[in-house]
Amino acid sequence: MAEQNDFRTVSLDKTGTKLRIIDQTKLPNSVVWLEMDEIEQVWQAIRTLAVRGAPAIGVAAATGLAVASAKIRAKDFAEFYQQFCRMKAYLATARPTAVNLSWALERMKQVVLQNKMYDPITIKGALLTEAEAIAEEDIARCRAIGQAGLPLLAGVRAVLTHCNAGRLAAVQYGTALAPLYLAKEQGQDIRVFVDETRPQLQGARLTAWELHEAGIEVTLLCDNMAAAVMAAGLVDAVIVGADRVAANGDVANKIGTSGLAIMAESFDIPFYVAAPGSTVDMACQAGRDIVVENREAAEVTELWYEQPMAPEGIDVFNPAFDITPAGRITAVITDHGVIGQPLAENLAAAFGG
Ligand code: MRU
Repeated sequence: MAEQNDFRTVSLDKTGTKLRIIDQTKLPNSVVWLEMDEIEQVWQAIRTLAVRGAPAIGVAAATGLAVASAKIRAKDFAEFYQQFCRMKAYLATARPTAVNLSWALERMKQVVLQNKMYDPITIKGALLTEAEAIAEEDIARCRAIGQAGLPLLAGVRAVLTHCNAGRLAAVQYGTALAPLYLAKEQGQDIRVFVDETRPQLQGARLTAWELHEAGIEVTLLCDNMAAAVMAAGLVDAVIVGADRVAANGDVANKIGTSGLAIMAESFDIPFYVAAPGSTVDMACQAGRDIVVENREAAEVTELWYEQPMAPEGIDVFNPAFDITPAGRITAVITDHGVIGQPLAENLAAAFGG
């Protein structure tokens, strides 16, 4: 993969006692790293999108819970477990839609239970080891997504993506962007049209930045321009990430994704979703069962402006995600290979359930 991918966006710090993340709210103007070991700091970092993107949120939560648990003072297992569960439950409230958060926290809880016969010091060590394992697995899963997705890019000159599902949204390689990094490494030049992704501008601030840093040709679009580039015949495929893939193949992803799927269908352009197994939620039957986060009105009315850009007190609709129905998705590119239609049947074969 490209050299630019050689750093980890989420990790333990050198001392092994703190969670270290790149502060995504400061990009692209400054590269700032944050270190933390208090559970409230980790919650805040996830809630405010300092760390964001489903896989990165999962790894940050696991690592944050491990370093915060390392500071628990408890005389026995019962006391340790009570404090651990309180922190785990609190962290789970940071954001609702990306399943990686609850998935990672649940894995951490299982480690505690599997080690309940040992003293708290041993359990703390096991938690740190598990957090590292989750991070390593994320890297491997994203590499596998890249390899699975690469053949789909044969002959492709340009793709369109939405939000940020690159290395910033994961530990290292990213999901939707992983096949593009691999294509670049193999000498295939693919232009990427990037939706700016209102209201938080993850496309403009993060995806455009990371692709540009990696030497990939990027063209930035306002969200309402996607149909125009498709109509002009400039887009050969759409690739987006996912925050949760339901068992029937419905996908929750950044608001605006479902509209892109409708456009892609109408222009006869393949629409791919890239996601690791940790984002596939076989316990969730369909998109209607996914909780979509609603965010504050100020993101829309004033976040990027010197002055408010809407009348004071105006009613604002600001869901952070939408659901793309399974039927509009050409295939889901996963670390278990490319899952094509019918998605429900093929997801069950790959991920059980
Ligand atoms: O609100 P965010 O920035 O956390 O949005 C989630 C996402 O990053 C996107 O929906 C992304 O496409 C899926 S996560 C790889």
